[in-house]
Amino acid sequence: MSGYGRNMIVTIDGPAGAGKSTLAVRAAEELGLPCLDTGAMFRTLALKLERMGFNPEKADPDAPELKRAFESCVFSLEGVGASSRLLCRGRPVGGEIRTERAGMAAAKAAGLPTVREFMKKAQRKLGDSCPLVAEGRDMGTVIFPGAFCKIYLSASARVRAERRLQQLRADGQDADIRELESRIRERDGQDEGRTLAPLRPADDALIIDTTDMSPDEVFAAIMRAVRAAQASAPVARPVRRRDREINREAVLDLLERGEYGVLALDDGSSWPYAVPLSYVLSDGVLYFHCAQSGRKIGIMARNNRVCFTVVADVEPVYAGSFSTYYGCALVIGRVFPVGDREEKKQALLLLAKKYFPEHTDKADEYAERSFESTAVYRIVPELLSGKAKNRPESGKSGSPRSVGAEKAAGSPA
Ligand code: DC
Repeated sequence: MSGYGRNMIVTIDGPAGAGKSTLAVRAAEELGLPCLDTGAMFRTLALKLERMGFNPEKADPDAPELKRAFESCVFSLEGVGASSRLLCRGRPVGGEIRTERAGMAAAKAAGLPTVREFMKKAQRKLGDSCPLVAEGRDMGTVIFPGAFCKIYLSASARVRAERRLQQLRADGQDADIRELESRIRERDGQDEGRTLAPLRPADDALIIDTTDMSPDEVFAAIMRAVRAAQASAPVARPVRRRDREINREAVLDLLERGEYGVLALDDGSSWPYAVPLSYVLSDGVLYFHCAQSGRKIGIMARNNRVCFTVVADVEPVYAGSFSTYYGCALVIGRVFPVGDREEKKQALLLLAKKYFPEHTDKADEYAERSFESTAVYRIVPELLSGKAKNRPESGKSGSPRSVGAEKAAGSPA
């Protein structure tokens, strides 16, 4: 088969006490995948910072404590489902992270840009290494924007406080329901109010309000969404010229370097429709902008399955016969309107910087000015593939010749 599918990453986001952890573990168990509890990563880091006497509210982003804490947080993941364990420097993270105080400390540390950047890298590294169920606050929006299936769990603050109380009672502890509810609201405020990666559902997430649902009902709804994503995933087809096939990194490199692409849409009529576009690749997804109305917008609203192609390095050659050196990338995926203002602004900035690198100082102004009149779309790749015929001396990595070498070394085809 040709083409590179996505790692199967299921994201489960939502506020404190929405039942994410229990349901993420249950879904991971059912799917035979590791479960990544990203809150535990923030809690581990926050406790280390606390022990160093570091106060995130008076933070200096260059504080040596932060650097030391990052160095001591080398995370890895072992086991699957209920046996999943988060390790820090090879040792399972301890029970001390599970207190209310550690949760509050984590929420405070989570507002720091350097902490978020550190976590983004650490979490993506884990997601790149294997398929998994990842639960947290920004899994679907920031960390894994191209995730296979995105879930957002919500519930009223009162119900979440009641669930927490039941949990505490089951552990032989007690608490005042009003106090629990007020702490939950306080944490919601911190999680939703921070400027960076605030808690919110991704545009393409399935939002499940669990207020009046039993855990079994929520679990069934999650599994239905995962199965639907599995059933509708595009199927990789065999490529005729295997010798031309390029590896995943080379496809991404081509998308990064490519100037323009062509978006093919299917409106269900007998005439296909394809449009050339400027675009930018960022964190594994593609962004493009366009007017707020028009033919493609109507089609995308009815059918968000698209095919996007980019051609680069084209060079016709004559060496005894006619030929062309070229590279091309093909993305099959889904397209979504970007509703989030911060993401939209970032995409416009990235587009401006890609196409006008010599005027990056004007990018902000451009993003600001075009913001209201422009629509931005995100293409989430589900299947990537690419081919190339390289100049023999070009030595491009990922070229057909080096793909052969990789296959011999057992890399995925
Ligand atoms: O899910 P939890 O209660 O263990 O998370 C503790 C805090 O960590 C949460 O209030 C905010 C922060 N956090 C975050 O900012 N992003 C995540 N992906 C996970 C947790």
